[in-house]
Amino acid sequence: MAIVAAINQPSTVESPRGSPDGQPAAIACQGVSRNFGGLRALVDVTFQISAGEILGILGPNGAGKTTLINVLSGLYPPSAGSVHIHGEDITTLSMSDRARHGLLRTFQNTRPSTELTGNEMLRLASLSPHASAGGRAYSARELLELFALTSYADTILSDLPYGVQKMINLAAVALCRPRVLLLDEPFQGVAESEIERLSAVIRHFAGTGVAIGLVEHNVKSVMRLCDRVMVLDSGRMIFEGKGADAIRDPNVQAAYLGKRFGGN
Ligand SMILES: Nc1ncnc2c1ncn2[C@@H]1O[C@H](COP(=O)(O)OP(=O)(O)OP(=O)(O)O)[C@@H](O)[C@H]1O
Ligand SMILES: [Mg+2]
Repeated sequence: MAIVAAINQPSTVESPRGSPDGQPAAIACQGVSRNFGGLRALVDVTFQISAGEILGILGPNGAGKTTLINVLSGLYPPSAGSVHIHGEDITTLSMSDRARHGLLRTFQNTRPSTELTGNEMLRLASLSPHASAGGRAYSARELLELFALTSYADTILSDLPYGVQKMINLAAVALCRPRVLLLDEPFQGVAESEIERLSAVIRHFAGTGVAIGLVEHNVKSVMRLCDRVMVLDSGRMIFEGKGADAIRDPNVQAAYLGKRFGGN
């Protein structure tokens, strides 16, 4: 219950932007490029996320957002550049070794195993070797309460709405107490009425010091939730700064010309 109350509290992390104490960024991406044959999906992308910070990663369809998460999480090696977590070079590590370093991610289109209930899925996640990587793992019960999903605990996942499946999947990932959490379109498919709760949960994780990179098309939610945003277009980072400034930026406006920008 204490944890549920905690999501309504402001973040305990003093200054998520930058590293005033001289600590290395939670995750630092330096000069990362990724080619698919002749296609340059990412071109020389450099940015950092501090502990406790939520960075929104925006960009039109095909801009390279998922590719960035794939490269950061180790699904694809970069064609150039490096990735560090808390100062340690993880560029050549596998996905599971990165998870051991506390880097976890969710996928854009998630369909968790259909035969399990939410409770079973969370209990399964607690058996993961990564579950204790970042300290004491959450219990299934704590997470179901945090996400306000207790009433779905014993329902088979495939019988649940897609948005609820996605939230349980995020709960299973968060159970392991990641230090860096990369979310690929967490609000996509989630009912409008649930988005505020999900945002509060994400804010809660940031408040415990997790660095969060959040890819989203739902700009309204990104603006409310994120400390800072970056915008990709054709694999290049064309903007980094405050969300309100991104909307006014001529390069960002040009990138979105004729495309969806402004929320679902
Ligand atoms: N495995 C792959 N093989 C070949 N091309 C790929 C691969 N993955 C991504 N691409 C290409 O890289 C570019 C960036 O794709 P990516 O999926 O990263 O975009 P995105 O910003 O996540 O788009 P969306 O908002 O639609 O999810 C696209 O042109 C895509 O077709
Ligand atoms: Mg994508």
